[in-house]
Amino acid sequence: MTALGKLVRTTAFKLSFAYLLVFALFAAALLAYFAWTTRALVTSQIAQTVDAEITGLAEQYRQAGIRRLVLVVDARSRRPGSSLYLVTTAAGEALAGNVGSLPPGTLDRTGLIETPYHRPDETDDQREALVRVFQLANGFRLLVGRDLEERERLHTIIATAGHWSIALVVVLGLLGGFFITRRVLKRVDAMTAATQTIMAGNFGRRLPVVGTGDEFDRLADNLNAMLERIEALMRGLTEVSDNIAHDLKTPLTRLRNHAEEALRTASGETAYRSALESTIEESDGLIRTFNALLMIARAESGHAREAFETFDVAEIARDISELYEPLAEEDGLLLKVVADTALPVRGNRELVSQALSNLMDNAIKYAAPEGRACREGTTISIAAQEEGNWVLLSVADSGPGIAEQDRERAVERFVRLESSRTKPGSGLGLSLVAAVARLHGGELRLSDNRPGLVATIVLPRAPAAVEGG
Ligand SMILES: Nc1ncnc2c1ncn2[C@@H]1O[C@H](COP(=O)(O)OP(=O)(O)O)[C@@H](O)[C@H]1O
Ligand SMILES: [Mg+2]
Repeated sequence: MTALGKLVRTTAFKLSFAYLLVFALFAAALLAYFAWTTRALVTSQIAQTVDAEITGLAEQYRQAGIRRLVLVVDARSRRPGSSLYLVTTAAGEALAGNVGSLPPGTLDRTGLIETPYHRPDETDDQREALVRVFQLANGFRLLVGRDLEERERLHTIIATAGHWSIALVVVLGLLGGFFITRRVLKRVDAMTAATQTIMAGNFGRRLPVVGTGDEFDRLADNLNAMLERIEALMRGLTEVSDNIAHDLKTPLTRLRNHAEEALRTASGETAYRSALESTIEESDGLIRTFNALLMIARAESGHAREAFETFDVAEIARDISELYEPLAEEDGLLLKVVADTALPVRGNRELVSQALSNLMDNAIKYAAPEGRACREGTTISIAAQEEGNWVLLSVADSGPGIAEQDRERAVERFVRLESSRTKPGSGLGLSLVAAVARLHGGELRLSDNRPGLVATIVLPRAPAAVEGG
């Protein structure tokens, strides 16, 4: 596309052009009106003087007769100027005046007439005149008029001025349009150039902001804010995928080394069998990690909203505690449930159940004293309560808890605190709980149980009307 073509195609130029057209049309209409009224004014002035002269000459005729009229007309005809006179007999024979010939029948017409005529001494030069014919007594006729040359000249002057001013308007308008459009184009080009470098991979680049606060600046500001957000998201994504790669590499390497070692050292069916069994165990761990990652992704993508339904959170709390009862008992833990009143929540039942299971997992895993059954009577409380418009789903234990400064970190993906390294796990449990809470417009709160940890899933309570519907 040529530079001019690009310029002409812009909205700014099209707008300027439309304005120019409207303005030029308006100017043309104004000038035409002006020309027409001047012409009408001149015509009416000529008519007035012609009428006045006719009245005067008719008076002369009435008082002093045809001879006197002929003398006066003859004298006036000799004066230079645009005045025209003619006195004729009833038969049309000229007695005095400076009009040579007229189209036949002109003398029989009444009222003001625009007519062509010839001067007595010129035969080929036809002129235009505005005349009035007056019938005198005894059949004589008096014609008084004005040559229209001056009116035409005035008209020409106005028309020329009009043409020139419209041409000027068009030229100035086009220049202005080009100027404005070029400025607009420069801004747009600068923005385009910036976007292209961003698209080419320079994500730190931002759109130029001139600082005038105009619409381009506002657009650039908003786009820059968007880029900032995208960059932060991408950084997060890179971090997560780095973590995933790193955290999956360790178990995979372990898996591979076990297999290799078995090949090298094992002899006999039992040894191979046990090597294969540990391989399967490791693989199961990997599959669990993948499943957890996929579930977090599902909770974060928002697709899980499609499966939203209204369900009772208290019921879920009871189900989960029932499910974990044998496990807790085995570890010598006492399980307490407080979930009596129905608490409706609109959400994804499966994900909320999974989140609560994760919290129970942690409580049992980390609260149970090492070497089990030592501190008989340690309790884990699971509760579903209501607080204003919120539903609180909490699991409290009396284990070591999480130090205040570690709580934020513990929620991050793959983070396992130093003290927990001896226990199995992938560090994804709390990440899923937090993602599920966010999906429902709520949050995960970790607090101190003195001693132990209280993990609370805060969810918005569903409107009562939906309940049971
Ligand atoms: N109830 C708890 N008591 C003490 N520490 C906990 C508890 N729950 C979680 N944690 C700490 O938070 C970390 C992250 O938990 P989580 O995301 O569930 O991962 P995982 O259980 O796989 O280690 C755990 O490694 C542990 O250090
Ligand atoms: Mg866990």
